[in-house]
This record gives sequence, C-alpha cells and structure tokens, in this order.
Amino acid sequence: MHHGDVLKVTGGKPLQGKVRAAGAKNAITKLLVASLLSDKRCTFYNVPNIAEVEFTVELCRAIGSEVHWDRQEGVIEIITKELESAYVPQRFSGANRIPILMIGALLGRTDEDIIVPTAGGCRIGKRPIDFHIQAIEKLGATIEYREMKKEGAYFAHAHQGLKGTLIHLPYPSVGATENTILAATRARGTTIIKNAAIEPEIIDLILFLQKLGVIIAVDVDRTVRIQQTIHFHEVEHTVLTDRIEAASLGMAAISTKGRVFVEGAQHANMITFLNKLREIGAGFEVKSEGIEFFYKNPLRGGLHIETDVHPGFMTDWQQPFVLLLTQAQGSSVVHETVYENRFGYTETLKQMGADIESFTQCLGGRECRFATQNFLHSIIVKGPTPLSAGTISIPDLRAGFAYVMAALLAPDTSSISGVHFLDRGYENLVGKLSSLGAEISREGTAKPAHESVAVAKK
Ligand code: EPZ
Repeated sequence: MHHGDVLKVTGGKPLQGKVRAAGAKNAITKLLVASLLSDKRCTFYNVPNIAEVEFTVELCRAIGSEVHWDRQEGVIEIITKELESAYVPQRFSGANRIPILMIGALLGRTDEDIIVPTAGGCRIGKRPIDFHIQAIEKLGATIEYREMKKEGAYFAHAHQGLKGTLIHLPYPSVGATENTILAATRARGTTIIKNAAIEPEIIDLILFLQKLGVIIAVDVDRTVRIQQTIHFHEVEHTVLTDRIEAASLGMAAISTKGRVFVEGAQHANMITFLNKLREIGAGFEVKSEGIEFFYKNPLRGGLHIETDVHPGFMTDWQQPFVLLLTQAQGSSVVHETVYENRFGYTETLKQMGADIESFTQCLGGRECRFATQNFLHSIIVKGPTPLSAGTISIPDLRAGFAYVMAALLAPDTSSISGVHFLDRGYENLVGKLSSLGAEISREGTAKPAHESVAVAKK
C-alpha cells in the first residue's frame, strides 16, 4: 500500500482553531461486524473515513454483505441477506483485531462450520484471545486452532446450537466481551457475562443491538445480560465520537501552547482524562457542541497515572499524555496495567530529548496483573524537556500520534515513517492538523484514497 509515505513536520507553532473529531474506530468496526447477526439493513452515521473501516467493509463483503459507503457524508448502509460463506479468507489474517469477532458474529448467524484467521493488531503486548475462546466455548461452541499453509486459523461450530449460561471473564477484556455478546444473541435462553468490559464503545454496541431487537442489559457491577434473539429490525445508528482522537487533538493543542475547539468531543466519555488535564494545570471548557482545550499556565507534573479498563484512564490516552508530561514541571509516574508492553515507543522520545525511565515494578501503589513478571510497564517522566526533531519510525497507532505531537514541538523538521499506522485510525490527520496551523505534509507514492476524499469534503 503506501507504507513508504513519510510525514514532514516542522514544529514550534501553537495549534489554533476548530476541528471535528470523527466517529470512533473502536465502535464502528464492531458495529459493522454486529450487523452480520441480522438479515436487515443497518445504516450507520458519523462513520470515520479510515483504513480500519475499509478493512472491515471488505471483511463483511467477503462473507456476503452488500455495503454502500458514502465517505463524504460518513454514512454506511450494510445488509447481509444471506451469508455467502462462513469462511473468512486468510488475507484478513494478522491485520487487526476485527476478524476474531467474526467467531461470535458468525456463530450468532449460522449453524455451519466457520473458519476465522488468526488475530493481529498493534504489537503492544502478546494480546492472546484465550478469554474469547473460553467464553464462547462455554456457550457450547467447539473452537479449534489449526495450522494452515501460512498462518493458523480458528475452526468453530455449534452444531447442537448455543446455550445461554453464566460466563465470568477473568479480566474485563473489550474484545472478549464483544465476541461473547455477539455469540450470545443466538444462544438459547439468557447469557450472563460477569466482569464484562463496559467501555463506551461497548455501550454503543449494546445500544445498537437493542435497536436491532436484542433484549440486553448492563448492571452496575459489570454484568451484561443477553436474551436469545430471533427477529431483527432495521436500524439507524449514529456512531459515538472517537474519545481517543478527541483527547489526542486536545493534548496536541495544549502541548503546543495553543487553543483548539474539538467539535463532537463527548464529555461523559472523557471524565477521567479531563481530571488529569486539570491536575497538570491544562485548560478545558466543556461546551454544548464539544470541548475546547487550551494552554493557560506552565504545566505541572508530579502526577500519578494508572491506565485501566473503563471508567479508568484509557491505555490509548497514555502515549499522548506521556508526551504532555515531558512538557510539565516535575516528575510523574505512569503505570500501564492494560498491556504489558506499551512503553517501547518511549525510546524514540528519549532520543528526541525526553527524560523517561522504565521499570518492571508496579510504580505508584497498586499491584497489577504484571507485578511479578518482567515487563517494563511503569515509567517516570521528568520535565520539562525541550524536544529536538528527528527521523523517526512509528511502531503502532497511538505511539504514532505521540510522535507527531513530539514533532509539533521540535523547532526543526522531523521525518516520520510508518504513516500507514496513523491511516488506520485517524481520519485526515494531515488535513486536520494543517487546518489548525501545523506545518505538516505527507510525502510519498500517493495519498491513500480515504485521505484524499476526506480532504476534498472540506
Ligand atoms: C481494544 O483491544 C481496542 N481495540 C484497543 O485499542 C484498546 O487499547 C483495548 O481494547 C483496551 O481498551 C479495538 O477495539 C479494536 P482487550 P482489545 O481484549 O479488545 C488481555 C487502538 O489503538 N487479553 O480489552 O484487543 C490483552 O492481552 C487499540 O485503537 C487476554 O489476555 O483489548 C490485554 O493485555 C489498541 N486474553 C488486555 O487483556 C484475551 O483473550 C486487554 O485487552 C483477551 C485479552
């Protein structure tokens, strides 16, 4: 594809203006897969124009969905009257975490044997899918991993039908919760998932399923209840705002000492993040159409952040927040408790001038799942440190945004490769940052289709 593209970023300018946050990548991709449960038309609004949506649309088409995507309006209509195939082709293997949800969705639609290739996604930890498998097997499916020509695949079936039961997830995994919910819509009787993830994107999935016809409820104690559903309705659904993109744009504004109104940012889904902004002395103002983020005083460090499942501080806010902490006065501690290996990107920030030290211990009090293992999953950040431009390579999506933020602070020109990671999850990033006054351009073979379209719509 366009793996050779490079971003040229010359920093030193405050970001100013107004920008619109897109719909959430981690919601729409699941919603499209969830639509496969039914044979009725589903219409989604506020769909982000990103590569991960392209991928998911192709995935759905591969098994028989008719999809119409108006990228300029951000609308997708999808209908899967019949499954043409319950085999997800191998070419979808390894790219991201979406195909693995086809296990739940397809078991929720058909009695046939299904084949789903191995999971992928950003390399930020081992990211196994044992919780998914255990939960869906508990519903009565048989899932087997077999080596194939190039990579392995999961073979699954529920010839006797699925049966609702009580499932206790070992950890509130987002993907395992989603996969189990999808399978449970077909399981006889009621399925109860304890210790479920309750991320806003999962609530969005639940809202969609309720419109689809499912009787589904969330209790206060992380319990999700799903009743077997046979008849489905047509659905119209507006995807919630991407709270990762919204927060990231806000942090970019603050770190450059600017002021940006992020239209669409939803207060209720950003509470934990906004508290941390207030603790470091950054400014924000919640308005009816979004949130304005601004720099007001020198930022204060001395903070302790622990990433966690919702309603905790998101692991996907961690990387841009660490960048912010490099600009704050004093030492801060960040303890990553969701992924065991999500600080690798700090090595490059150190080369750019950041003062960051990594530890295998759980710093800051609470012991997490990784306490006795040898993972560098806590850091101490000392600031403020000026950052200098560099030639840098993006290792994963969220680290990529932190690198762009670093480059926006460095007065010289940075050259950033690995741009395809950003294409996966940030709609028209170059266009949005340019419109806020950033000196940023993309060089390379060609603009990806989704970006040129998004630029054209302005
Ligand atoms: C989702 O990944 C998101 N991805 C991630 O965003 C996000 O960081 C993560 O949730 C946490 O919020 C998508 O929605 C596509 P998990 P997911 O299952 O579902 C362990 C981004 O950049 N685990 O909640 O894969 C796992 O290894 C991405 O947008 C098991 O051990 O996350 C991890 O340590 C990055 N066994 C932890 O649980 C399992 O079977 C949380 O993973 C499943 C998970």
